[in-house]
Amino acid sequence: MANKLLNDARQNKKDEFYTQLSDIENELRHYKEHFRGKTVLCNCDDPRVSNFFHYFAYQFEALGLKRLITTCYKNQTPDLFSQHDCERAISLVYDGDKNGNRVPDPEEIGIHPLQGDGDFRSAECIELLMQADIVVTNPPFSLFRQYVAQLMRFDKKFIIVGNQNAITYKEIFPLIMDNKVWLGYGFKGGAAHFISNYEDTASAGDHRAGMIRVSGVVWFTNLEIKKRNEELILFRNYSPEEYPKYFNYDAIEVGRVENIPCDYAGEMGVPLTFLDKYNPHQFEIVGQSLDLADMTVVKKRLGKSGGGPRFYLEQDGNLRRLYERIVIRRRKPA
Ligand SMILES: C[S@@+](CC[C@H](N)C(=O)[O-])C[C@H]1O[C@@H](n2cnc3c(N)ncnc32)[C@H](O)[C@@H]1O
Repeated sequence: MANKLLNDARQNKKDEFYTQLSDIENELRHYKEHFRGKTVLCNCDDPRVSNFFHYFAYQFEALGLKRLITTCYKNQTPDLFSQHDCERAISLVYDGDKNGNRVPDPEEIGIHPLQGDGDFRSAECIELLMQADIVVTNPPFSLFRQYVAQLMRFDKKFIIVGNQNAITYKEIFPLIMDNKVWLGYGFKGGAAHFISNYEDTASAGDHRAGMIRVSGVVWFTNLEIKKRNEELILFRNYSPEEYPKYFNYDAIEVGRVENIPCDYAGEMGVPLTFLDKYNPHQFEIVGQSLDLADMTVVKKRLGKSGGGPRFYLEQDGNLRRLYERIVIRRRKPA
């Protein structure tokens, strides 16, 4: 069900699914050194039910945080599934353990009513954003573009969950190309189970009660992580037979990341999953097929546009339309 749920979320504004604590722990263990002395904001999180709040409140001292702020959206009651029935929301502020029991007790958490509904774009939420050093959350997928644009405008560090398809958005891809945003460590197998009461269409083996399984889900970040410095080990050699050029762009097709040839200096088209292994010292990102594909030659050949811009391969006299590709080039000679 590749990406379908998250795409649906964007189209139908079905934004109510919640991240599991284990998934948050798995990702955030790679960023621990970034949090010392920092204010963290979780600005799409009902603090009373959010596992993001839970994680940071319980790890407050271990991470050496300065402050934790969370806000919720159109909600004041501590229900997991927000009904969006309240035009006022709340923010919570936690400054760490005061009574020495190393647990965030209710009396240690400051509850502040907001003037408005807690929309991350509201003036009062932007005020909180300005106090933050690092923003960590799973934002509404339907507003992902606006969400990231706001983080960039206020020059914030972040670790956020998103749909893999967002990589290709015209607002997001340039940030990835310019090394302003990259992918985090991610979810096992590129899929995650979120706590939700939406209908789950996962196969029986993947179904978990009270959850939806979503594939093609990733973490986006602009915090330095070790894997960005790890080089992809390449062992294949280039040959024109094994790596044909596209019909409508001057680059070779590399259908699997592990098959990137070690001795090819020109442009290569690779699947989006390449970004999981992307080391900016090893490769340069040239663009994506959505922007680079020459569709006029395709139209001329097929007599029709054949859908949105994509690369095509010519095989046995026919044109084969490929999935979205990222075009890369090696930085270092082999
Ligand atoms: C995908 S859910 C994730 C919730 C939580 N961050 C988590 O992972 O457990 C996105 C959340 O954003 C909230 N939301 C929707 N629109 C919002 C907005 N304009 N401003 C702030 N939050 C919003 C939704 O109510 C929902 O709780």
